[in-house]
Amino acid sequence: MQNILLTGTAGFIGSNFVPYFLEKYPEYTLINLDLLTYAGNLDNLQECVNNPRYKFIKGDICNRELVEFIFNEYNIEGVIHFAAESHVDNSIKNPGVFVQTNVNGTFTLIDVAYKHWMDKPFHYKDSYAETATASTKLRSDNDRHCEERSNLLPRFHHISTDEVYGTLGEKGFFTESTPYAPNSPYSASKASSDMIVRAYQETYGLNTVITNCSNNYGPKQHDEKLIPTIIRKALAGDSIPIYGDGKNIRDWLYVLDHCKGIDLVYHTGKTGEVYNIGGRNERTNLQIVDKICTLLDEKVPHADKSYKELITFVQDRAGHDRRYAIDATKLENELGWRADENFDTGIIKTIEWYLKKYE
Ligand SMILES: NC(=O)c1ccc[n+]([C@@H]2O[C@H](COP(=O)([O-])OP(=O)(O)OC[C@H]3O[C@@H](n4cnc5c(N)ncnc54)[C@H](O)[C@@H]3O)[C@@H](O)[C@H]2O)c1
Repeated sequence: MQNILLTGTAGFIGSNFVPYFLEKYPEYTLINLDLLTYAGNLDNLQECVNNPRYKFIKGDICNRELVEFIFNEYNIEGVIHFAAESHVDNSIKNPGVFVQTNVNGTFTLIDVAYKHWMDKPFHYKDSYAETATASTKLRSDNDRHCEERSNLLPRFHHISTDEVYGTLGEKGFFTESTPYAPNSPYSASKASSDMIVRAYQETYGLNTVITNCSNNYGPKQHDEKLIPTIIRKALAGDSIPIYGDGKNIRDWLYVLDHCKGIDLVYHTGKTGEVYNIGGRNERTNLQIVDKICTLLDEKVPHADKSYKELITFVQDRAGHDRRYAIDATKLENELGWRADENFDTGIIKTIEWYLKKYE
């Protein structure tokens, strides 16, 4: 039995990940730490509450004493870190909490993890020292021995975003070597947290991996995000707001495909590596709204009008990135990941889930 600490699991992606992970790995007990901000909802985890391998703790990742207590009490042997302030619009209005949670919170968590694992009286300390001094060597000649040793140590998996790479023109894709150029307070805070994680691997030899994913969609997403907003407003007969000209492009990833990618990287990714996870489903915001309205016209039709008549263009978001597109070749070729859903199949599942929620 191993205890793994998961943060931010009452939110969208974490709450899809927990039931999937609990069922797949009977050897893990999952300790869930979440502050239950406006974005966290324990109803999202209802299906797990009776599982003896699921434990929920309400608390802040910035609270060092609490995080230390959890590591000691549960002898944590791995971390998957989802917790964040995640909504770009909120980061424009109130950037401070994004720096606090995303930067300071990630620092607190990884620093406690490192010190806890370093202090263990068994092999971790020597192994960390060895991998830290060998870190440069590891990069230059890909020292197999060190890499294998390091992979055996407790792992810290940081969940991040493609938004750290900034914006693209009409062509090209973000790869793992695209330079960071974050444009919003949200993406700047995530970029900072990625750098902290990187530094703990480079400096101390901590067994880290980072995944940067594109826009997720699927069940349990907070009402404030684009796809739930479109569905909710359409069903209520309210105008459906679209920023600017609606031609901003995002790559869309079905949330369960993301969870499977995280699982794969957590278990088989190489120490210190970054993996991009993307659905190869680029769509303009207008295409997204159009598709959802078409499906709603089929599933819950109005006699005399289409949901498309509710579309309303509103003033563009400040600093709105034009296009994101992820190249997931590394994850596909090195670890064998494939997305099971394309946008057309994933969006039907998503709409069906929201129709039940709002019925
Ligand atoms: N949703 C996406 O499309 C997307 C895309 C790329 C990356 N990500 C990243 O994935 C992760 C999860 O995203 P999400 O969409 O599930 O976010 P979310 O906003 O739905 O959930 C975030 C969760 O973190 C918790 N939380 C916030 N501050 C906390 C704190 N200080 N201490 C403990 N818990 C705290 C909230 O209560 C909530 O349950 C985030 O790191 C985000 O940056 C998300």
